[in-house]
Amino acid sequence: MSELTGKSALVTGSTTGIGRATALALAARGASVVVTGRNASRGVDVVEKIRAGGGTARFVAADLTNQEDVLRLAREAGDVDVLVNNAAVASFGPSHTITVEQYDAMLEGNLRAVYLLTATLAPKMAERGGGSVINVSSGAAKIGDDNNAVYAATKGAVDALTRAWAAEYGPAGVRVNAVAPGPVSTGVPIEWLDRYIPLIPLRRVAQPEDVSEVIAFLAGPGGSYVNGATIPVDGGLTAVEPPKQPVAAR
Ligand SMILES: NC(=O)c1ccc[n+]([C@@H]2O[C@H](COP(=O)([O-])OP(=O)(O)OC[C@H]3O[C@@H](n4cnc5c(N)ncnc54)[C@H](OP(=O)(O)O)[C@@H]3O)[C@@H](O)[C@H]2O)c1
Repeated sequence: MSELTGKSALVTGSTTGIGRATALALAARGASVVVTGRNASRGVDVVEKIRAGGGTARFVAADLTNQEDVLRLAREAGDVDVLVNNAAVASFGPSHTITVEQYDAMLEGNLRAVYLLTATLAPKMAERGGGSVINVSSGAAKIGDDNNAVYAATKGAVDALTRAWAAEYGPAGVRVNAVAPGPVSTGVPIEWLDRYIPLIPLRRVAQPEDVSEVIAFLAGPGGSYVNGATIPVDGGLTAVEPPKQPVAAR
């Protein structure tokens, strides 16, 4: 028996990056995982990798900017004990260059989908006696940057939802937490990641597994008394003053 044996998990944006690593981490702990995203080919690859390791998984395609898709995903996922709201839409640039379509997609994907999935699935967790919701926020919610206003706003709202839902669902045994990654080596351009290294006390950017391990901890019994927290997973980036002198990457 592993710590999540008998539990089911839905991980949004699990066709790649942090979500993929999270799906693998939860499956390795015994959870039956619903892998989801738009890209069926990458999603099926993740499912096959989990099954090859002896785990249980299936793929459900959904575009989280589409409200009908979100509600269908919630239905098709069935009983969910662990919901990881990981997928996000990101358009970066000066605010006057962000189109209304890009703005809407970020609000739909990063906020409305998180809201609809949680508001649909958390009450069902409560009826079954408990569960865990983990939202993937970002250090961008805490530190202003000159090119990500809308994305940062959606992540700040996710932190607020996390605290509100901790109050709303906690009494029924459903814990709601968030992780706030700093720069993570996923599909992000390497030049963008590298500029952060001198500012990060650990002098490296994260790998997806640095984040997925914290998510898996929050999902499992080790996180049983953590509720309403947004945990930075950023090597100390948002905890310290930037260095006064230039420093070399480790
Ligand atoms: N990487 C970083 O440096 C970093 C830093 C801070 C926070 N984060 C947060 O961490 C989370 C994961 O980021 P990541 O870097 O792992 O991203 P990623 O590698 O780009 O993966 C994004 C995932 O989201 C899915 N997705 C994107 N748009 C979608 C849509 N409209 N509908 C459904 N699924 C969609 C993608 O699946 P499909 O392509 O199959 O649809 C993919 O599985 C996000 O919430 C992000 O904001 C990342």
